[in-house]
Amino acid sequence: RLPEPFILPGAVPSTLAPERVDAAGDHYRIVQRRAVREILPGYRTEIWGYNGEFPGPTIRARSGRPALVTHRNELAVPTVAHLHGGHTPAESDGYPTDYVHPSQERLYTYPHQQAAATLWYHDHRMDFSGPSVWRGLAGFHLIGDEEEDGLGLPSGERDLPLLLCDRAFDAAGQLVYPAVDPTAQHSPGVTGDYMQGVQGDVVLVNGVPWPRYDVASVRYRLRWLNGSNARVYRLRFDGPHRTAPGFVQIGSDGGLLDAPQHLDALDMAPGERVDTIVDLTGYRPGDEVTVVNDLGEGRTVEVLRLRVTRTEPDTSRIPDHLARIERFDPKSAVRRRDLHFHMGEMPQMTGMSGDSEAKGWLIDDRPFDPDRTDLTVRLGEWEIWRLTANFNHPVHVHLNPFQVLSRNGREPLPSDRGWKDTVHLPAGQALELAIRFTGYTGRFMLHCHNLEHEDMAMMANLAVTQ
Ligand code: C2O
Ligand code: CU
Repeated sequence: RLPEPFILPGAVPSTLAPERVDAAGDHYRIVQRRAVREILPGYRTEIWGYNGEFPGPTIRARSGRPALVTHRNELAVPTVAHLHGGHTPAESDGYPTDYVHPSQERLYTYPHQQAAATLWYHDHRMDFSGPSVWRGLAGFHLIGDEEEDGLGLPSGERDLPLLLCDRAFDAAGQLVYPAVDPTAQHSPGVTGDYMQGVQGDVVLVNGVPWPRYDVASVRYRLRWLNGSNARVYRLRFDGPHRTAPGFVQIGSDGGLLDAPQHLDALDMAPGERVDTIVDLTGYRPGDEVTVVNDLGEGRTVEVLRLRVTRTEPDTSRIPDHLARIERFDPKSAVRRRDLHFHMGEMPQMTGMSGDSEAKGWLIDDRPFDPDRTDLTVRLGEWEIWRLTANFNHPVHVHLNPFQVLSRNGREPLPSDRGWKDTVHLPAGQALELAIRFTGYTGRFMLHCHNLEHEDMAMMANLAVTQ
């Protein structure tokens, strides 16, 4: 039995306190473990959670101040923690085969040499990110800085990270994932019908199905994260009482935009973040606004509701100028590359039951191989990448964000503005982006952030060299 929409109270993930603070930075400890949570009312659902929570606890970090996060794995399978959007040295980036085995721990060091941004952390284990994230291994990691502090944006309780994901449950209220291997130990991938990605019929916001948040008549900073395995959303306000407030976008994946932009709808593919201000000043107690998903069907059209329950003073602002963004100059590009994302034969895939017909998701005709370098880039050099696809793929690059230059030779979309680290590449499009890697050499990666595509080999190795 699924709950009626907009009945359950909205949740905010807990904030993780550092265990210790010293000259090296803030030391955190996270235990990855099974837990039982009541997600659907009246059902006890087993999850895998960071500290047993879903979403995991939020780390609130500061630009320039390192976080040293020890992850302990108390699950029955290996794990890998990745800070998505982190400008992180290779040894702490959560490469898919840098396993934390059961009963072991690993220290991840995040120097945070990057601007204020909405990041998230999630499992990145080779071949099994999809089932692990589906079970709950995802949380927010927010970076603040002085530039952001000076803007007067809504803060404290009015700064609300919202992890959006869809899940499916069985009759007993347990999460169902159509894995080839339900133990998530041996054979990767999902059963045939789910090749394109796994979607559920229940929309969760911070782990709560179709929540209702009781709010004041003030401005809120809503930081949206599409933490779904495969679902794409178009979020829009649908207000029964009066004109809907709309979204003022202030930031994207890699941090604040140069200037705010007003949007009626937010397009979000898996892995993307959109940082927004929603202005409820002028609303009165009793007013309600509902966020819907135009790309959903049935119950996945509904997302969440904000119900104004009180008036409160508000001194926040939305300044005309947010952050200084270095504009890419096309003359500075030293190299152009083409990357094609498509489905094809999977000759090398192990564990696919010897089926020579097995299909997988490929980049430039090749399934992922940890032992092969696919792209070699030099520190500090701007490159232009042209991405093409014959199916929809959210493309994500580790280490540095990029700027979208064009789509099919035309101007990028409003949702492409600012620094992006994940971008929606629809079938039939050619998307050009400018990217430059800085700070750290070593082995990083790029991949499709549809987690089933990722697990079915749609990843490539990126060697960053001096
Ligand atoms: Cu959000 Cu390589 O991952
Ligand atoms: Cu994909």
